[in-house]
Amino acid sequence: MSSMKEVAKLAGVSISTVSRVINNSVPVEEETRKRVEKAIKKLNYKPNLLAKGLRIKSGRLIGLVVPGSVYNHAFASFIDYIESNVSNKGYNLILGHNRNDPDSEAEFIDMLIRRNVDGIILSRVSDESRVLRMLGNNKIPVVVIDRAFSDESVPSVVLDNYRAGVLAAKHFIEERHKVIACLTGPLNISLCRDRMEGFRETLKNHNIEFSEDDIYEGDFKYESGVDFVKKIMSKKKRYTAIWAQNDLMAIGIINHFLKNGYNIPKDISVVGMDDISFSSMMVPSLTTVGQPFSKMCKTAVDVIYDQIRGKNILKKRFVFQPYFVSRETTMRIG
Ligand code: RIB
Repeated sequence: MSSMKEVAKLAGVSISTVSRVINNSVPVEEETRKRVEKAIKKLNYKPNLLAKGLRIKSGRLIGLVVPGSVYNHAFASFIDYIESNVSNKGYNLILGHNRNDPDSEAEFIDMLIRRNVDGIILSRVSDESRVLRMLGNNKIPVVVIDRAFSDESVPSVVLDNYRAGVLAAKHFIEERHKVIACLTGPLNISLCRDRMEGFRETLKNHNIEFSEDDIYEGDFKYESGVDFVKKIMSKKKRYTAIWAQNDLMAIGIINHFLKNGYNIPKDISVVGMDDISFSSMMVPSLTTVGQPFSKMCKTAVDVIYDQIRGKNILKKRFVFQPYFVSRETTMRIG
């Protein structure tokens, strides 16, 4: 059975364009429409739910679309908190985690449109995510959480990511570190750049040398923390402090250093980000910049619920502050 992705490839368009043609949700150029319809016919593509034009009334359903996977414990927290709040409102959750793939993000949004869900909560895969265009004429309420553009057309619930970088940098400054590195998440995600800017500018304002050579791009996975350590071990420069932009990468960094005979924090101080449940369980327990996931997720559900009930949401952007948790992976030097 052919897929929407194969139709898009054959027609030479994006999945979101195929969705717009099938759902007739947004005007599409006639030539493009004909190409898509020709591809659908050639591949005998049948949408995996109802045929075009039919809609099943959603059974009080809210869709949640998150990037990464449930193995990214930050998103596991999102799923847990959002599910319990959705349930408290008498709704059920349809979960789509798209493994950071924009195509599967688009396919899942298309499915939610077909299911005519009552609302959608979305954390975007990256800056390339353009899935809200697919909604077009559909008046499905949407709230963007976590990874959001600065100019979202719908309500958004975000962390002050610049401040997160400031907190991490200030901690290293207070502990007198001078040779500092940062392992970022994917830099095509705006919140990673915001975190980086807060970190960089705070170090600069305190006259601590920090250059592009001290910035390493990771992918938010444990393995990129390990790879980062292998990379810096081959360098002459000896860092005394490292900020990883999420706890999974920080745990990868710490474990690989420990396996290679280093002492954490005596040899190197490490700070993470997110404050996932494992961070306090580790030995040594992880110093990190926390996100108030519970409050952010409750707000996202409250806003989507108000939209579903037709309430006009005047405040469009809900910004939450990060918090700092000092544990055992950092120490003062000098
Ligand atoms: O750990 C995954 C990261 O990506 C978190 O910092 C969260 O903000 C998500 O966007």
